[in-house]
Amino acid sequence: SYVDLISNSSNIVITGLTSLNSQMFHIVVNACQNVTVKGVKVSAAGNSSNTDGIHVSSSTSVTILNSRIGTGDDRISIGPGTSNLWIENVACGPGQGISIGILGQDVQEAAVQNVTVKTTTFTGTENGVRIPSWGRPSNGFARNILFQHAVMNNVQKPIIIDRNYCPGNKNCHGQVTPFKLNRLLGFQDIPGSSAKEISVKFDCSKKYPCTGINLEDIYLTSQNQPPEASCTNAGAVASGLFQPTSCL
Ligand SMILES: *[C@@H]1O[C@H](CO)[C@@H](O)[C@H](O)[C@H]1NC(C)=O
Ligand SMILES: *[C@@H]1O[C@H](CO)[C@@H](O)[C@H](O)[C@H]1NC(C)=O
Ligand SMILES: *[C@@H]1O[C@H](CO)[C@@H](O)[C@H](O)[C@H]1NC(C)=O
Ligand SMILES: *[C@@H]1O[C@H](CO)[C@@H](O)[C@H](O)[C@H]1NC(C)=O
Repeated sequence: SYVDLISNSSNIVITGLTSLNSQMFHIVVNACQNVTVKGVKVSAAGNSSNTDGIHVSSSTSVTILNSRIGTGDDRISIGPGTSNLWIENVACGPGQGISIGILGQDVQEAAVQNVTVKTTTFTGTENGVRIPSWGRPSNGFARNILFQHAVMNNVQKPIIIDRNYCPGNKNCHGQVTPFKLNRLLGFQDIPGSSAKEISVKFDCSKKYPCTGINLEDIYLTSQNQPPEASCTNAGAVASGLFQPTSCL
């Protein structure tokens, strides 16, 4: 069910690949070093479930450039153990969004560090950029994450940090997650439109709040109502334009 599974390898370049209607992940980069994926096109029906476009985990120095991804599930998902990942000039839609996570699944979990997601366009997607982590114990963490220049076109939920991810409220033991998300976390220059009224959502825990979230030039409008932000236990600092303004 994988179109391309690259595992335990170094110094790989994938160029100009088109991947259609794979059953699960389209391109997986796991336990690799120095991988460049560029000019790829991934597509699957927007209503197909579990068709991630590109999944990167346990890898360092991965670059994803100049690609178009439209799938049923996450377009690009970034799993534990990923560091020094650069994503630039990627257009997405339909599908979920670019997701760092779902993190905090295991008690012992490798961190996600140094991720830059730059110049992306999201069109008609469910999420834009998001960082979900399970509401259960984990020593994993994410840091030095930057989302820069992301244009949202009619995206349901453009910006989300969800520290209490627990679909169906099953197997999460009702625990707040100690999963750490901090240091230089930034969202910069994100204009566009949200298909729902809540366009920015930071759901963090009281015991382990999200800290050091920098927001700069976020300007989101909403179709029918004024856009809103929903923030729980999140320490955000905004500069430049910022709409919606609640949360600060
Ligand atoms: C990764 O590659 C190395 C060297 O080729 C090999 O020794 C090791 O068993 C491989 N690990 C996995 C998980 O495949
Ligand atoms: C990364 O891989 C590319 C393509 O194989 C190679 O040209 C380059 O030298 C590698 N970079 C490093 C730092 O090993
Ligand atoms: C997806 O949508 C297409 C076109 O609307 C439809 O034919 C197909 O049955 C749907 N697939 C699923 C899995 O819902
Ligand atoms: C992350 O980037 C910083 C600054 O460039 C560097 O010092 C650090 O070693 C990187 N972390 C990893 C895990 O590569």
